[in-house]
Formats: sequence, C-alpha cells, structure tokens
Amino acid sequence: MRYGEEIIERVQSLNDIVEIVSSYMPLRRAGKTFKAACPFHQEKTPSFIVNPERQIFHCFGCGAGGDVFSFLMKYENITFPEALKQLAERARVPLPEPNREERQESLAGKLFEINEAAFQYYRKNYEAEGGKAARAYLEKRGFKPQDLADFGIGYALPDWRGLADHLSKKGFGEELLLRSGLVVKSAQGSCYDLLRARVIFPIRNAQGKVVAFGGRIMTQEVPKYINSPETEIFRKRREFYGLNLAKRHIPEEPRMFIVEGYLDQIRLYAAGFRNTVATLGTALTEDHVRILKRYIQEAVLVYDGDKAGESASLRGMEIFLKEGLAVKLLALPAGLDPDDLVRNAGAAEFEKLARGAQDLFDFKLASLMKKFDRKDSLGLLKITGEFLDTFAVIPNAVLLDRYVNRLAAVLGVQTDSIRNELAKLKARKGEGRDAAAAAAPERKEGAAGGPVAEEEFMLLGLLLVEPERLEKVLQEVGADDFHSEESRRVFLTLKALFDEGEKITFNSFFGRLRDESLKPQLSKVTFFEMDELSRDKAVADCLRRIKLKKLEKERTDLERRIAQAESEGREEDLLKCMKQLQTLLASR
Ligand code: GTP
Ligand code: MN
Repeated sequence: MRYGEEIIERVQSLNDIVEIVSSYMPLRRAGKTFKAACPFHQEKTPSFIVNPERQIFHCFGCGAGGDVFSFLMKYENITFPEALKQLAERARVPLPEPNREERQESLAGKLFEINEAAFQYYRKNYEAEGGKAARAYLEKRGFKPQDLADFGIGYALPDWRGLADHLSKKGFGEELLLRSGLVVKSAQGSCYDLLRARVIFPIRNAQGKVVAFGGRIMTQEVPKYINSPETEIFRKRREFYGLNLAKRHIPEEPRMFIVEGYLDQIRLYAAGFRNTVATLGTALTEDHVRILKRYIQEAVLVYDGDKAGESASLRGMEIFLKEGLAVKLLALPAGLDPDDLVRNAGAAEFEKLARGAQDLFDFKLASLMKKFDRKDSLGLLKITGEFLDTFAVIPNAVLLDRYVNRLAAVLGVQTDSIRNELAKLKARKGEGRDAAAAAAPERKEGAAGGPVAEEEFMLLGLLLVEPERLEKVLQEVGADDFHSEESRRVFLTLKALFDEGEKITFNSFFGRLRDESLKPQLSKVTFFEMDELSRDKAVADCLRRIKLKKLEKERTDLERRIAQAESEGREEDLLKCMKQLQTLLASR
C-alpha cells in the first residue's frame, strides 16, 4: 500500500518533530535548535540536534538524521508505514485501511500487536469471574484496586491453551505465537501457554507499549515468577518496569528510585513515590544507566539491607560513575523489601530512609572498611585496589579529585600515592586500548559515501535548503555529471519538482522521493550554519569539483580511446581523439 504524498505531508505537518522527539527524551534549547545526547549511539557531549524550522534532526556523531518519520522508524525499529500509522493516530488523521496482504509489517510491529492482544486477554480474565482468585491475592497483599489502576494487571487462567487458542482465533499464526515467547512448543510438538494460573504484570516500554509479561504464582510453589523471554522488542538489559509511568513525573522529581520487584515498584508508586522503576530480574547494565541518563539527574538504588553490601550492587557504582550519573544507595533494614517496608511502616518511614540515602562512594568505602583492615598492609592494598579500578573509569576530573582526596583521608595515606597508582593503572589500561584500536578495521564509508559523493550531496543539500539556486545550477550541470546513483536520483527529483513548478521543501522533496537512506545525508548539510557568502562559495566549490571530476573522466576515456586507436592502427580516429583531448586540456 502506498499512501499519497498529500496525506504523508498532512500527517507530518500535524506532528511537530520537537514534540515527538521530546516525548522520547528531553531536549535542551540551543538557539534556534534543540540539543540532546544522541539516542542512537553512545556519546558524552550532545551532538544530536533537532531543527524545528526545517522539522528535521541530525546527529553529528553518528550521522543519523532525517524527518519525524525517520526518527520514529529508527527509535522504535519500525517500518515507514508503521511510523506513518502511529503519527496519523496521534494527529487523528484517518488513513485508508490497507488490506491484509498489503500490510508489510516488521517483526517488531507484529510483536507489538500480539503483545497488545495478549494484554487484552489477560486483562479480561482478571476482571471476569475467573479472575477472582487473582484479585483476592493482591487484596490480601494489601493492594487496593485504585493502587493497581495504572498497571493493567491481568490473570492467566489455569488452562493449558487459553491464550494460544485466543490468539489463533484472532488470526495470529503459530510462528508468531512462538516468536512472542508467550506460547511454547512441547517436545511432542503441541503448543501451550507459557503463563498459567498466574497474576500477570504487563511490562511496558518507555513509550507505554506492552512488550512482555511477568507472571506470579499465587501459592508457595516455584518458580515464584515466570517472565516472558526476550524478543525483538524486549531486552531486559534495557527496559525498566514502570518507566512509562514514572517518566511523567520527572519534571517535578528529577531523581529516580530503582527497585528490584514489580510489586515493589507498584507499592512505592501507589504510596506516592511515582518516580520509581524496577529492573526486570537482571542486574543494572550500562544500557540501563544510559537510558536513565536521558531522563533524570540522580538515581537512588534501593536494596534490601542484606543485599546492599553484595558485590553486584557495588559493581553497579562503576557503571554510574562511568556514565556520569549521580547515584545514591538506600539500604533498607535487613530482610525487608520496599513493598514490605511501606506496608509495615508506611510511606513516611520510606521517605525518612530516602533522605538518608548514602552516596555510593561512601557506602562502598564503609563496607570495604568493614571487610578489610586498613591498618594491615594487605587490607590496605585490597581497599585501594577496589577503588583504583573504579577511579580509572571516572571521566569527570572534578569528581575524581574529590574521591581521591576522601579516600586518602580515610585510609591515612598521601593523595599523591593514590594518584601515582592510578596513573600507572591507566597507563596499563591505555596500552591495551591503543593496541585494540590499532587492530580495529577502518571505518567504512556510507552507501553513497566516499569522496565522490560528498561534494555531490553537499551541493544537493544546499539546493534543498535554497531551491532558488536551482535554476542557475541546472544550467551548469546535468544528471550525468553526478557520479553516484543516489545523487543522480536526488538531482532528478529536484529537477522534476522544479520543472513542474512545485515548491521545494524537505517535506515535498521526500514526499516525492521516498528513500529513507538518503535523509541523513541530506539533512546533515542543512545544519551547517553558513552565511550567505560561504554558501555561495560552497555551491561554487561543489560545482567546480563536480565539473573537474567530469573532465577527469572524459580525459581518461579519451586516453583509452587513443591507445586503442593506436594499437589498431585507426589513424583517423586517433587524430580526432587527440584533437579532442587537446581542446579538453586547454579548457581547464
Ligand atoms: P513478591 O515475593 O511477590 O513480593 O515479589 P518480589 O518483587 O518481592 O520478588 P523478589 O524480590 O523475590 O524478586 C524481585 C524480582 O526478581 C521479581 O520482580 C522478578 O522480576 C524476579 N524474580 C523473582 N523470583 C523469580 C523467579 O523465580 N524467576 C524469575 N525468572 N524471576 C524472578
Ligand atoms: Mn516482595
């Protein structure tokens, strides 16, 4: 199904790129544009820019770029029709309905659909007569219906094929059922539901779409929880339970509590700590921290007092320091998780403990001092050794300085000796890294990359920004002068719009040439903040280089023909070609 240019433009014009991008990540105003850390690659200084005037984005770090459709496609891993559909829905623009065969959906799109259908199914069960036991279970654990309202809790019936049959009836094929992980196949080849007789916690991604489920048994049986597996749309290492809800409250509360269980998150959220998320049965990863960093200024790790001193939580510290996100540790009384604590002692008690949350550095120091004796030289070595590894990854010099001073004071050693050790450690690590970098292959040029296409795209991008230059350029170059297939297509599309007297904008252009891969290359040029004079020069330079290349090519062609005519003894051709070559060389 191809949608018309008109409807695509209409959808685009109703979805402001700044608004859409900032629903995924905070943007900071920087003059006429907006800035952020790029969500598509890892970086420390923001090079991701959104231009509201032109309605495009570009990252100078990784080269990603394009319009609001490109952003959604890349961020959500979806196809163009899916991005269009989402934005159309958002703007309440009805789209003509594609029929089943025409729908070319990505696997991700299908998985979102099947998860949504499963969610509806579990939800209905929970509310129906059969879900009584689940409702009673949560009530017994002290959750009132209004506490649960935002979470869409569901129930999986004890049946073996309840969900499988339901989804099949809805038209989802067996392969997709298995792909979602919600249905599994026995060795005998029969399909059955993964989650049975369990309270269902739908897991939503940051945008609020259901991507997986956790199921809790209501008895003492094991396993206590079964979670649906990772899929194309669900990576435990990246998702947080509750982030879709918590992120709404970030403006008023820029720190975030991180807990371990679904019910801990729900309990804290219901008790008014709306800035709470839970990990999904994995330790915190670098991906997690990078994602949080887009939203918040400080993380508070909440641990059961027994577990807080475990090496896993201490290792977590390194990730935060490396990414430069402030982090504190809230150790609860031993044996209590956040749910227990709030239920037994109330929200005020949690608030009190939260105020006493300790800087992770202090916490680590205290727990290492308990474990090792600093008066004993081996103990001292152990403690400094633990910290040096951590220090080595801290990119922020001010923070590092502070920590080194504090460690030196507590251990009763010279700051210089810690600094020296650190320098030695870094040198050792640096050597390893340099060797690795030397062995790494060179960066590949993009599809249309290489030095040839560069000036061609520069010129074309400039024309896209200032189509009034097109007329003059058309007099000087033609499609054949462009070396790469992509730039020829771009040129011809521009020319067609010009010939038809159409207004040329980024939107109308890409309405005509629906090629996502070209958007980044062209949007890049439009971000160069050039003044009139340098744009004139840029256009002239590009034209000159394109023409030079053309001459170069003509020359090698002629030389080849001359050699051929010579070897075949065709005197007349030889003379003709030589004359042409002379004219050519004289014209430069
Ligand atoms: P309740 O016992 O219901 O209060 O749950 P909890 O959230 O306190 O559970 P716990 O602290 O034991 O576990 C925290 C998280 O680890 C859970 O929310 C699950 O994501 C995960 N988890 C716990 N038990 C299991 C299990 O048996 N299997 C799997 N796959 N994950 C589990
Ligand atoms: Mn619990």
